[in-house]
Amino acid sequence: MKPTVGTQPRVIATRVLDAVLHNGRSLKAELATSLKQLPDPRDRALVEAICFAVLREGARFDAALAAWLPRPLAKRDRELHALMLAGFAQLDPIGLPPHAAVAATVEAARVLGRQHQSGLVNALMRRALREGLPVAEAGAQWPQWLRARIEHDWPGQSDAIFAASAQAPPLWLRVNRRQGACDDYREQLQQAGIEATSDPDLADGLRLDTPVPVATLPGFADGAVSVQDGAAQRVADALAPAPGARVLDACAAPGGKSAHLLERDPTLRLTALDIDPTRLRQVRETLDRLQLDGNTELRAADAADIDNWWDGSAFDAVLLDAPCSATGIIRRQPDVLLHRRESDLTALARTQAALLDALWRTVAPGGVLLYATCSILKAENATQVDAFLARTPDATAEPLDARFGHASGVGRQRLPGEDGMDGFFYARLRKA
Ligand SMILES: C[S@@+](CC[C@H](N)C(=O)[O-])C[C@H]1O[C@@H](n2cnc3c(N)ncnc32)[C@H](O)[C@@H]1O
Repeated sequence: MKPTVGTQPRVIATRVLDAVLHNGRSLKAELATSLKQLPDPRDRALVEAICFAVLREGARFDAALAAWLPRPLAKRDRELHALMLAGFAQLDPIGLPPHAAVAATVEAARVLGRQHQSGLVNALMRRALREGLPVAEAGAQWPQWLRARIEHDWPGQSDAIFAASAQAPPLWLRVNRRQGACDDYREQLQQAGIEATSDPDLADGLRLDTPVPVATLPGFADGAVSVQDGAAQRVADALAPAPGARVLDACAAPGGKSAHLLERDPTLRLTALDIDPTRLRQVRETLDRLQLDGNTELRAADAADIDNWWDGSAFDAVLLDAPCSATGIIRRQPDVLLHRRESDLTALARTQAALLDALWRTVAPGGVLLYATCSILKAENATQVDAFLARTPDATAEPLDARFGHASGVGRQRLPGEDGMDGFFYARLRKA
């Protein structure tokens, strides 16, 4: 990325970080609104790079501030705190030319009405240049309680999990096989100067180690391709509904997995539910863009409240892509580490259990339910499914092979970064 010298991206990055770090706002939502203010794609890319770097490595920058300031910054200086983290991120890891980074950060202090602190900003930036920013231990960014859980659940792999969760992910594409073959699309990308590799375990997947803006992907607007992590693409293989099957996607929005199932088999009779009507509208948009206008019913409903939405006709295959801690996708949503509370896990586990119990009633005899999460916590995955099997006599687990990840209870767990993919759990349950 070529550096920009503009002040505006630094100001916007500071405001986004202030909202996320200090006011509990979501990074995705803040970026979505803030980036609209920047017409130059290089400025947008810089804001994203700064925000992600701070949320992935901010513990290092806070350590520097703790060492270099005589006392911690006051509450009224939270915006200054965000600005300093944004400033340090430009030096390391982003590695912008020091002069541009220092000058624009000092200028941003002025624009933010902190002229009186611009000398301090200048001094701290210059000290970071002279002395370098400290290195943090793996997992320094994680809250203690969550770090302990990961170390408990994955004792041999916890450092690799922390490291992978701090890396930028590749861009994974899913080629819409209704519009063309994956190899043909890879050639189209190549002609457009975009390098992609295929994955032997993904029939429709391509991996771009150097991500590009989605709008530059050939045929994107017409539905030739979607963005979807490789681990999420494996869900369709794990569910593997028979041709013409009656399928329920119980937590469907924004519709990535529903769409993939329909791309693979247009004869499926799909019902897609989501509790959130706004998010459900995204499923419609997803299906429209991909030109998957077949036999699909969309409903806004609490999937656990089956009396409210189910007409009593059983499903051959049910996908429960359950709400979860999102601990497998921290590389994409680093603010999960700020916002997630230990008490959330109890509530999530209760919701997951209620969804499993209720949806099991909708599975036809001999039918299948695939339980999936983007969590790497056993309480939401292996332990959750074990407890379900223990209280559900007509349920048995069916094995999934090693291409789905490590054996974990009766399911399979992919850990973040393995094969370049997100952390994901899959368990396939068969009804007697
Ligand atoms: C992990 S996301 C699903 C992603 C989706 N399967 C895809 O591939 O695009 C979980 C979804 O579950 C929905 N959800 C949460 N609780 C629900 C419930 N009780 N009933 C139905 N949907 C629910 C959320 O609104 C959210 O959209």
